Amino acid sequence: MPMQTSQPTKTILRLELPTDPRWVNIAEKNIEEILVDHAYCEQKAASSGISLIVKYPDKTKLVEEMTELVAEEWSHFERVLAELKKRGYSLGRNRPDEYVVELTKHIRKGDRRERQLMDHLLVNALIEARSCERFKLLWKNIADEDLQKFYYELMVSEAGHYVSFVKLAKEYMPADEVDARLKELLAIEAEIIRNLQPRHDRMH
Ligand SMILES: [Fe+2]
Ligand SMILES: [Fe+2]
Repeated sequence: MPMQTSQPTKTILRLELPTDPRWVNIAEKNIEEILVDHAYCEQKAASSGISLIVKYPDKTKLVEEMTELVAEEWSHFERVLAELKKRGYSLGRNRPDEYVVELTKHIRKGDRRERQLMDHLLVNALIEARSCERFKLLWKNIADEDLQKFYYELMVSEAGHYVSFVKLAKEYMPADEVDARLKELLAIEAEIIRNLQPRHDRMH
């Protein structure tokens, strides 16, 4: 049985389209591939945080928050590696992440540097939100009790990252512009999810 506890994601995330319920069934049957893909998601989250620091070293708050986030994402990566090792699996090769590729196309170039930063932060926020939603499904539905606990913890952590990314965007752009863009991107994100087949070997 999944742990009985509060559901912090319910009120925080504003995703427009819930994950296809078939995904959790196919994911559970392919835990090796899901863990491998998940490991790469954490690795990409860490490297995306580093890229933001490299690109915007003048934004002190961003540098501070991303430094913390990178450390957390890296520890998630380590923990997924440990879960793989425990089961006799290894990391293996990286796979293209169609979801992230499609979403990243909506980071607008040109105009103010801050506008591009806002888009980048909001795209990262949505990746966090969707990962959080998937972790929640795994926590509530997966049979393996160790993984239930693991995904519960990660769900809480990624929900926090979602909130931090949106807040950070509001440090650099007016709140109403951020909210309007978030609304647009939420619709775009739902469309991307609608057009992707649920896959047995992908976290997204
Ligand atoms: Fe993470
Ligand atoms: Fe995260």
